[in-house]
Parts: sequence; structure tokens; C-alpha cells
Amino acid sequence: MEQPFFKVIIATEAHHDFALLICEEMEASAKARGTGIAKRSPEYLKQKMTEGKAVIAFSDQGEWAGFCYIETWGHGQHVANSGLIVSPHFRKGGLAKLIKRCIFDLSRAKYPDAKIFGLTTGLAVMKINSELGYEPVTYSELTNDDAFWAGCQSCVNYDILMAKERKNCLCTAMLYDPVEKAVSVTQPIEKQGERKHTVLNEKWQKARARALRLFKPKIERIRALFF
Ligand SMILES: CC(C)(COP(=O)(O)OP(=O)(O)OC[C@H]1O[C@@H](n2cnc3c(N)ncnc32)[C@H](O)[C@@H]1OP(=O)(O)O)[C@@H](O)C(=O)NCCC(=O)NCCS
Repeated sequence: MEQPFFKVIIATEAHHDFALLICEEMEASAKARGTGIAKRSPEYLKQKMTEGKAVIAFSDQGEWAGFCYIETWGHGQHVANSGLIVSPHFRKGGLAKLIKRCIFDLSRAKYPDAKIFGLTTGLAVMKINSELGYEPVTYSELTNDDAFWAGCQSCVNYDILMAKERKNCLCTAMLYDPVEKAVSVTQPIEKQGERKHTVLNEKWQKARARALRLFKPKIERIRALFF
């Protein structure tokens, strides 16, 4: 089967008409999975579109194909890429990966210092998050902003979360920490720099020794002539 072409773009007010359809699909998918979900209203999704904090995908035929949006917590210290949904017609074709990459890049551009986190029970999302550089963490690493945890109230597993005093639940927590990533990326470069410097220094010392060996007799003769 030919792979469909998708257009993944930052949503705007022009996409408000899709908000209801997206909400319905989110709810239907959660029911089908029998898992919990933080409920969203069409108004909330419209607000995200207006603020430029959402990504929407369409098929080459112009059909709505997927969606995801950004939420910020703890005064922008933590960012979550929430509400990922791919229309059932377009699943298992790599679209969630494209959407997550797009919303991740948007989050990094808007909030370069923020930690990006997610809570999920889905294997697909865990795989995608890992590819983006997220790592599994305990809930203690996530935001302690009450407004975030209040979003779990509409989840069927909320009682479990509360019984565990927000320390654990059925979702796996994953986090992308830009500071840790910066350290792990720059370290090898620094090491490479050191190595490069050492190699160059060794080459220079060898060339100098060879030149001295070659020209030493001449230098000695010139010296003998004048001194
Ligand atoms: C989860 C969801 C977004 C995946 O969308 P998708 O476009 O089918 O995902 P992709 O094709 O990009 O697949 C990404 C990876 O996950 C795997 N995957 C996809 N669906 C999967 C599933 N149901 N179970 C296990 N793995 C799955 C793919 O094989 C792929 O893995 P690979 O990199 O090893 O090839 C989609 O099924 C969906 O909208 N589900 C309902 C809403 C939902 O669960 N949202 C997530 C809330 S946290």
C-alpha cells in the first residue's frame, strides 16, 4: 500500500472548526483503549490553536489526520506535549512520530530552558519519546504544579494516583532535560577538542624535530663560518 503524504503544521485560528472533531476522537480512542485520559474541551483546543501552541496534521486529500498541543507548568519550567491523537484511518504509518517531532521542536523553540515531560500508558508514545531523547523518570521529577495534576481528575485511574500520593500511577513518566542533554552533547566535543589539540601538538613536535635533524649540519656550518 502506498504511504500517504501528511502535512504537519502549526495550528492557527483557521483550524478552530476541527476542535470538536479532535475532542470527540480523543474521547472515543480513550474509551476504546479502556485507559484514562485528561478530558479537554473544544474551547481549550481552540485556545491552544490561537496561541500557536498546537500542531495539526492533514492527509494529502485534506482530511484531518492528527493533533497535539503544548502545555506549560510551574511558570514555564516544565512543558508537556499533550493530547497526541492520530485519526484511526492514518495510524501505524509514522504520523505520530512526525507530529511529536514537530511539537517537540516547537516546544524547544518556544521554551528552550524548559524540561519537557509526558505521562503515558502507550507503548507507541514511549518509543517516540525515547527517540526524541526523553528518559523514564519517577513522578518526583515532574512538575509539582497542582494545576497539572488536577488534569488527571477526569482519568479513570485518578483514585490510584491519589492513593499513592501522586508518587506513582499506571502511566510511565518520561522527561527530556535540556541541561542534561547539553552536558552529554558538549562533553564529547570538549574531549574531541582536547584530542585534536593533542594530535596537532604531536604532529608539530615531530615536524620540528625532523626539520632540526635536516638543517642542523647546515646551521652548524653557518655558525662555524661566523663565530
Ligand atoms: C498512539 C498513536 C498516537 C500512535 O500513532 P501512529 O501514527 O499509529 O504511530 P506511529 O505510526 O508514528 O508509530 C510510532 C511507533 O509506535 C509503534 N506503535 C504504533 N501504534 C502502536 C500500538 N498500538 N502499540 C504498540 N506500538 C505501536 C509503531 O510501530 C512505531 O514503532 P517503531 O518506531 O518501532 O516503528 C495512535 O494510535 C493514537 O492516536 N491512539 C489513540 C490516542 C493515544 O493513545 N494517544 C497517546 C496518549 S499518551
